[in-house]
Amino acid sequence: MTDSFVEKSTYTVKHPDLRSWVNEIVELCKPEAVRWCDGSKEEYDEMCQKLVQKGTFIPLKKRENSFACFSDPSDVARVEDRTYICSKRKEDAGPTNNWMDPREMKRTLRPLFAGCMQGRTLYVIPFSMGPVGSEIAQIGIELTDSEYVVVNMHIMTRVGVNVMHVLGETGEYVKCLHSVGAPVKPGQPDAKWPTNPTTKYIVHFPEERSIMSYGSGYGGNALLGKKCFALRIASVMGQEEGWLAEHMLIMGVQSPDGKKDYVAAAFPSACGKTNFAMLIPPAGMDGWRITTVGDDIAWIKPGKDGRLYAINPEAGYFGVAPGTNEKTNPNAMKSIEKNTIFTNVALTADGDVWWEGLTKEPPQDLIDWRGVKYDPASGKPAAHPNARFTAPAYQCPSIDEDWENPKGVPISALIFGGRRSTTIPLVYQSSNWAYGVYLAATMGSEMTAAAFGEIGKVRRDPFAMLPFCGYHMGDYFNHWLQFGRNIPAPPRTFGVNWFRKDANGKFIWPGFSDNMRVLKWIVLKIRGESNAVESPIGWMPTYEDIDWTGSDFTREQFESIMSIESEDWKNELLQHAELFERMYDKLPKEFIFMRELLLSGLWRSPKRWSLAPEREDEH
Ligand code: OXD
Ligand code: MN
Repeated sequence: MTDSFVEKSTYTVKHPDLRSWVNEIVELCKPEAVRWCDGSKEEYDEMCQKLVQKGTFIPLKKRENSFACFSDPSDVARVEDRTYICSKRKEDAGPTNNWMDPREMKRTLRPLFAGCMQGRTLYVIPFSMGPVGSEIAQIGIELTDSEYVVVNMHIMTRVGVNVMHVLGETGEYVKCLHSVGAPVKPGQPDAKWPTNPTTKYIVHFPEERSIMSYGSGYGGNALLGKKCFALRIASVMGQEEGWLAEHMLIMGVQSPDGKKDYVAAAFPSACGKTNFAMLIPPAGMDGWRITTVGDDIAWIKPGKDGRLYAINPEAGYFGVAPGTNEKTNPNAMKSIEKNTIFTNVALTADGDVWWEGLTKEPPQDLIDWRGVKYDPASGKPAAHPNARFTAPAYQCPSIDEDWENPKGVPISALIFGGRRSTTIPLVYQSSNWAYGVYLAATMGSEMTAAAFGEIGKVRRDPFAMLPFCGYHMGDYFNHWLQFGRNIPAPPRTFGVNWFRKDANGKFIWPGFSDNMRVLKWIVLKIRGESNAVESPIGWMPTYEDIDWTGSDFTREQFESIMSIESEDWKNELLQHAELFERMYDKLPKEFIFMRELLLSGLWRSPKRWSLAPEREDEH
């Protein structure tokens, strides 16, 4: 076979397997040209200009080197029902993933990919997840027919010739094939947002370490380094090699005396991870400082000293725009001032972007995410609820000085947070590693968008990994338990819930910068410097144990979000049993006993366990 012709390349590729894979895909997909990307600024600018010429990108007058674009209305989010884990054996994908036999899936995909890049350029993107050359980092090669993907990958990962150098002639890499699934017929104009409106497949072959994505150009469906590689494929690598690939932010928490601890925290999608990762402490807690290592994904490995070290495999933020503003996340607002791509936001008349929550009232004369004049009377949002910004991580003012340290940062605590309007208290500490794994495994999130099911119903989202674990969830729990057994002193584990509501359906906890009060308790607790009381579900701070400087949050309010209602908890435990029943074949025995222990603790406790038992009669 002859080598695919190279439109422009600044390096020679010495890796025979890579060359033959690219040639094979060129034969199959029939692109008009092939371009090997070098990750340079010139390449980025050239691609952006190409997207401007196509009408996909709209340059923003108000933000330096920034662009907005609108996707096709059929292509606005990750498509979980079109996402597959094609392990050889069905039981390795487990009950929570879509599965198809890998040979059958390839038979299904082949005709779709055949000729799918006609009229387009195939881009070969060499990228590193994690600092190039770090022992924790991994290499991927994405083949895509989308310029939008090229520029987003430039921001979200480390693309470059140096990746090819690390790869050498025989290095391992994850094969990531992507097509928007919309060939351009000769003489026909291209769509501004090419996509396949009817057929989408996001497919993972864990044993082969490869990904094939067809039909979508959006976010995690198309930027294959993120959810597909850094979580689904990497979680399988981690299980085999003894490390963890997690849906977690990583942050540094520095106390006024200069001491710093790093924590990693898992929250389901759309629970404010980016805001938490970039938190600015409230007025009055001035000596405390938060630094940001990552806002979405953590790769965690045991170090030689027995501690856990984490890196952020990404290099940018693909953050949800709606709700982001100067109050909820001032650091994100600074991160997106320049060099940023906005997708599905609204446009202002003077060449800036807007989304719900940016200001109280929408400005006059907006263009909405569908590209038409916005009518506020329509009752519809101007920006799509899943509108995104793609911004380089180094632009974040709170970026941690060690965010690119190839060794990673040492993790002192793990935090697991769901989205629950009842039952789960603001904060509690598990008494040991196995219980920490249990509480993370039973995390839940109440549905906020009808798209994911009945509003208000709790969707169990173990470790916030339900859509992202590349193998059987039961095996995943066992991996976590085993991981803890192998390290001398595993980090402490905590549960948090910012979302508890009062009888009128209003959030009780102010959240955002006030979350610092909870973090301070957590960090002092692991340092042995703060107090706690024992509750039926773990250790908890009393009102006195929290720093309330500058806050008017009352004792009664605090107690109302810390109470443990026996009936709610018994119901909760029944739901845990339902989850366990789904993965009965691989369920760790610890979980059965842990559930029993919780039940026996709740059985003993009064109808309502409260931090202020003397007030109990009033309820
Ligand atoms: C994300 C998600 O986009 O979790 O980060 O959905
Ligand atoms: Mn995420």
